[in-house]
Amino acid sequence: MSLLSFFKQKHTEVPQPRIEDWPLTYRQDGLWTIHNADFMTEPKFASAYARAVQAEKDHNIQWRIHILTWAATNAMKIPGDFVECGVNRGAASSAIMTYVGWNANRGARTYYLMDTFQGLVPELVNDEERAIGRLDMFEDAYPECYEQTKKNFDEFDDVVMIRGPIPDTLPQNKTQHIAFMHIDMNCAAPETAAMRYFWPKVQRGGIVVLDDYAYHGYQPQKDAMDALGREIGFMVASLPTGQGLIVKSS
Ligand SMILES: C[S@@+](CC[C@H](N)C(=O)[O-])C[C@H]1O[C@@H](n2cnc3c(N)ncnc32)[C@H](O)[C@@H]1O
Repeated sequence: MSLLSFFKQKHTEVPQPRIEDWPLTYRQDGLWTIHNADFMTEPKFASAYARAVQAEKDHNIQWRIHILTWAATNAMKIPGDFVECGVNRGAASSAIMTYVGWNANRGARTYYLMDTFQGLVPELVNDEERAIGRLDMFEDAYPECYEQTKKNFDEFDDVVMIRGPIPDTLPQNKTQHIAFMHIDMNCAAPETAAMRYFWPKVQRGGIVVLDDYAYHGYQPQKDAMDALGREIGFMVASLPTGQGLIVKSS
């Protein structure tokens, strides 16, 4: 059979299954797919994910945690600190630390955890975000959690928690070299402020993951981050998990 006739048969004659009959490998968190999701059953990933659940609760975000653990694993190959802006109780970061075996590298790098530890800062939520209900949506979502979060990270070395609103707290973070950063504050202004501040410190090969970049309902964060990227020179890959991925190549 010629390639052309194979192609025609494949795409015109073979009946496609109805979408409800597809063997879905993942069906949560805004992502339905038939593609390979082997990471779901890998023991190392399962323990890291269980650690995230222990820190908070199960949000059924395995694919997002898979992206983060992949990024962090690669970032461990270059020198530099890890930074998370928007930590809450530390689900994502404790999964990352478990996955990469953080304590095996005692003294080599610092993991900075930055948050108000009591929710969004209303004055930083812009008109567009207010119009789509951002303040109402998260009004009761993030009660005071500093002590609980501190306890969550007791088992990990080289952790520095910085409490207070970004951007005010950015100068308190003394890192000069960043290998990995996760930005997840559900709000454009502090996220772009953090990116503007830390981007020059991200090392070549360093990775930044934006939790909400492509997520349904978070357009203002994407627009703001894209504008900043055009200004200071980065491009974000839009992931089907709703995350955005940036690798600093130079
Ligand atoms: C979605 S949660 C973070 C979840 C965490 N990254 C995880 O995956 O486990 C968002 C966090 O951003 C924090 N936050 C929002 N605006 C902030 C700001 N301007 N400065 C510091 N923290 C902020 C909130 O307090 C909240 O804990």
